[in-house]
Amino acid sequence: MELSRHAKLYYEKDAPEITDFEYDALMRELQSIEAEAPELITPDSPTRRIGGTPGEAFTKVEHIIPMMSLDNALNREELRSFYVKLCSSLDGSGVDVLCEPKIDGLAVSLVYEDGVFVKGSTRGNGHIGEDVTANLRTIKTLPMRLKGKIDGYFEVRGEVCMDKHGFAALNAVREECGEPLFANPRNAAAGSLRQLNPKITASRNLKAFLYQIIEPERHGVFTQHGMLERISELGLPMQGAQKLCGSIEEIEEYLDVWTEERFKHPIDTDGVVVKLDDISERSLLGVTAKAPKWAIAFKFPPEEKLTLIKDIEVTVGKTGTLTPTAVLDPVHLAGTTVSRASLHNQDEITRKDIRIGDMAWVRKAGEIIPEVVRVEKDMRATLMPPYVIPDTCPACGTKAVRIGDEAAVRCPNKSCPAQLKARIAFFASREAMDIRGLGDKIVSQVVDCGRVKNIADIYGLDVFTLAELERMGSKSAQNIVDAIEKSKSRPLGALINALGIRNVGERTANDLADKFRSLDALSETAVEHEQELETTDGIGAIIAASLHDYFNDEENRAVIARLKDYGLNFKADDGIIDKGLLPWNGCKFVLTGELASMTRQEAAKKIKALGGETSDSVSKKTSFVVVGGRPGSKYQKAQTLGIEILNENEFIEKLKEYE
Ligand code: IVH
Repeated sequence: MELSRHAKLYYEKDAPEITDFEYDALMRELQSIEAEAPELITPDSPTRRIGGTPGEAFTKVEHIIPMMSLDNALNREELRSFYVKLCSSLDGSGVDVLCEPKIDGLAVSLVYEDGVFVKGSTRGNGHIGEDVTANLRTIKTLPMRLKGKIDGYFEVRGEVCMDKHGFAALNAVREECGEPLFANPRNAAAGSLRQLNPKITASRNLKAFLYQIIEPERHGVFTQHGMLERISELGLPMQGAQKLCGSIEEIEEYLDVWTEERFKHPIDTDGVVVKLDDISERSLLGVTAKAPKWAIAFKFPPEEKLTLIKDIEVTVGKTGTLTPTAVLDPVHLAGTTVSRASLHNQDEITRKDIRIGDMAWVRKAGEIIPEVVRVEKDMRATLMPPYVIPDTCPACGTKAVRIGDEAAVRCPNKSCPAQLKARIAFFASREAMDIRGLGDKIVSQVVDCGRVKNIADIYGLDVFTLAELERMGSKSAQNIVDAIEKSKSRPLGALINALGIRNVGERTANDLADKFRSLDALSETAVEHEQELETTDGIGAIIAASLHDYFNDEENRAVIARLKDYGLNFKADDGIIDKGLLPWNGCKFVLTGELASMTRQEAAKKIKALGGETSDSVSKKTSFVVVGGRPGSKYQKAQTLGIEILNENEFIEKLKEYE
């Protein structure tokens, strides 16, 4: 049908022949035909694909054939012995294996009935996964109907992932919006696939690659390379780059190529999977409880490069911690250029005996954060003395102290300008008060000119003062003043985090906001009932003592009193902690008709508490319409637009998943 052809051109080939507007018009026409004659709706209808048809929460799906894991070969030796064992078990030599890149994503299973996509699920525990059908429908490259004729049940498995480019772009947007960043493409893919609102999944541009047909012989497939060919013929996305190898030398050659190639590859790969090619022989090898014996995953070691430590710089953090950072001769490492690596603290430096002028092996922890692994002591040309963090603060010259058995040394001077700048910059940062425009350079200037001596002084800044600063126009000054004003209504958790209390990070701050509901209540408990704080879930003695010290300090109390006078929000609003983390964030609900078990207001409150929004009218943007007794015209409109409709029971079931 016409629309299916355009849907295919749009979603699968990225080559539309008609404008989005024309496409939308055709889509609406189909939706209204389907609304009038639901019996005509086919499971592969383009209306079921994306937008307008958000779907199911995650019900459980049983994997009749378990989704297994793979055993790992941690080095080449283990890989060689795997291959030797494979050959000897099959009474042969030169057994064919297929080498494939190991995609760093999340495993999924897709089920097609008579060639039409009907269900998709995550691996879960291997036996029971989650139904993510609606979200998988949003992956543009996944066909809703297979090419060629496939009768009955057809199951295929593979990996959902996000490419490196998409990952970087997503994190850039999240950073811009002050949302927490994903640590790696795999986490981003998992977070995107397990969204309650498929529209969010759709916006994430996920990719899928299939590598395993279930019961292959039933589909006339007898080898792994034949399986990949069939996957491709059926129109399913397949990674490519696989190679049939008949000797350990060939396998190792493939590893050599991929150990380098993976950095250029658009998709994150964390190893190579080696599989016995002949499927009929696999049963001779069998399986362990968790993995088949006919395959193995060789994991790439993290990339390490040797470079020069040109210098060690010490920076002063917001709580006075002196942090040493190695300044490196820039090296290209796992996709980016690295020129600095945190050395954490003196203990770390002493343990690794890191000195200025050393040649050091550098890698990225979790492929993200640069770190010095070890130094090449034999390459020391001139003998530099062991590095010792200065015992005075590099910013204010105060003698640094080590508190208790902490690894860190600190500058104890509360008026240290470097500390003050770090505190103010942190207060203004996105995860805290989100004062856009008040970056490091401006913070430095307002502190240096004496206008800002503590966080409360920020709220006394005016356009006139800011416009006087170097390279600051009156427009930018106005924008900052507006952002300062806006920050007054930041949620309580953000404010507690912004105070920069030692040992209290974003998560603890949100927990405290959630439990104490107001800054006054938290402050009172911290000062007068420290014991009570200690026994509160997730807090403990160290955090309780930090809170006690912070709120007991006269100067801090005076600053907090001024923040209150300036009109900052000191109260938790309806239990919302961080909307971005709530499960129904971005979901729009419309309630119609009478609910038996609660009033509409109560239902709206529950929706809001889970991050959702309610609205009075149904539109294309509505995610769910909750229908009670004697519903009004909104019900019909929802049907016409193909919006998912929940009856009261379904709505309560959905709520229960999170309550
Ligand atoms: S085969 C029964 N092939 O790696 C064996 N797995 O660490 C099925 N993975 O659970 C897996 N790329 O999620 C296979 N080319 C590939 C793969 C691959 C990534 C994942 C898969 C598996 C995990 C094991």
